Amino acid sequence: MLLIEDMHAAYGESRVLFGMNLRVDRGEAVAMLGRNGMGKTTTVNSMFGLVRPTQGRINIDGHDLSGAAPYRIARAGLGLVPEGRIIFPNLTVEENLIATARSTDRKGKWTLKTIYGLFPRLEERRRNMGDQLSGGEQQMLAIGRALMTNPELIVLDEATEGLAPIIRDQIWSCLIHLKSEGEAILVIDKNVDALCRFTDRHYVVEKGRVVWEGSSEMLRADTAIKDRYLKV
Ligand SMILES: Nc1ncnc2c1ncn2[C@@H]1O[C@H](COP(=O)(O)OP(=O)(O)O)[C@@H](O)[C@H]1O
Ligand SMILES: [Mg+2]
Repeated sequence: MLLIEDMHAAYGESRVLFGMNLRVDRGEAVAMLGRNGMGKTTTVNSMFGLVRPTQGRINIDGHDLSGAAPYRIARAGLGLVPEGRIIFPNLTVEENLIATARSTDRKGKWTLKTIYGLFPRLEERRRNMGDQLSGGEQQMLAIGRALMTNPELIVLDEATEGLAPIIRDQIWSCLIHLKSEGEAILVIDKNVDALCRFTDRHYVVEKGRVVWEGSSEMLRADTAIKDRYLKV
């Protein structure tokens, strides 16, 4: 469903991606792992048309969308929960959700009602402005916004970063639920054990390319990989 082939990207003279390859099939939950600064966010931003790759192809559902603008990527069915949970601070929770849904016009099971069912806290806060929310509420809103576009694939970049353990667990429960509903998920996170509860496969990224890929069982068993590429 999502295929990234031989992607290269740079910021000015500084090269960051050196032939990234990545695949997510329908209904699959896939994790991208790796230490800070290895190119995970750049990969995501290249996928969403936010960074222009110098080389490589992006294919969504059989359509070549290499070099496409962000709105076309969203319409093709990719939903992003960006690193740093960027929401509109001067819109209410409900306005944030509606504005995002309008931006793609994709129809499906995700509506205000189903999002509020998933995150009752957002319904309680629906009239609050984005900047009045706690970190955890902002993260729920960021996930709700991505779902409002009824994506074929939801991509979460460090969605549990900086959250209290109890809020983190709510995010994990949400992802486990989405996976059980057959949603395709690409998740970037550092909590390997929590990821392994619902992910099918993992990619370990080092210096802008994939250095290891395998199933959750393989990763759990492979302490050498964890020591070499994931220890801080
Ligand atoms: N906007 C930018 N301008 C210049 N360099 C950047 C920018 N964003 C990221 N980088 C650099 O690119 C490299 C990869 O960053 P990033 O993709 O954010 O890694 P990760 O998400 O794996 O932590 C890092 O060396 C980072 O400093
Ligand atoms: Mg990052």
